[in-house]
Amino acid sequence: MLIALNYKMNGRKTFHLNQLETIKKLNKKGTNLVLCPSFVFLHLFKFKNKNIFLGAQDIAAVNNGKSTGQTSAQMLNEFGVKYVIVGHSERRKDGETDEQISQKVKNAIENNITPIICVGANADEDVSKTLKTQLKFALKHVKTGNNIVVAYEPVWAIGTGRTPTVKEINFAANLIKKQLEKSKINAQILYGGSVNDKNFNELKTANIDGFLLGGVSLETKKLVKIISGV
Ligand code: 13P
Repeated sequence: MLIALNYKMNGRKTFHLNQLETIKKLNKKGTNLVLCPSFVFLHLFKFKNKNIFLGAQDIAAVNNGKSTGQTSAQMLNEFGVKYVIVGHSERRKDGETDEQISQKVKNAIENNITPIICVGANADEDVSKTLKTQLKFALKHVKTGNNIVVAYEPVWAIGTGRTPTVKEINFAANLIKKQLEKSKINAQILYGGSVNDKNFNELKTANIDGFLLGGVSLETKKLVKIISGV
């Protein structure tokens, strides 16, 4: 199972240091963790652990040059980042385009960083149609053999306490798998959106490979319950 933690723009230095001490001790066999803190805290996460990987929350769509405030794929790779979240709905809402997302995925792969591609529809959108369009762009430069992760995150489930049913998650996961098969791409599929220690046992019965956690990443006790219960 793959569990990725998206801390978003949360957490302070002491919080991360304390939580890391706890997480490092868990060492759950067969479970890989990807920790995605803010850029300024990435350095706190530089330690050796074969089950814990460093993730970033974004990556530049261009590779170098006049892009104030951006961080390139080469820079992230050089720093030791192994995964990057791409196309999160909070970034799409801020104007990130499908074209930029496909470029970010390409840059990540070319620099040995596994993109965690987020897809998901708003409540008033057609799930199949939205996922197909988002995937079409996101997979544009992905080739057979590339390592990618796709996270299904319905926009209405993020931070709301509402989750889809297992049946709805399976529907979306199947749709994603079919689209991947068409392009002969293998990927791990995650679910994200209001996952917590209470609904985790139910949600983990879905036909997926893991989870992308948001808010619960900030609650160490609940997080430990989730990771230990895998
Ligand atoms: P919540 O778990 O807070 O709903 O956030 C999910 C998410 O956006 C992970 O990327």
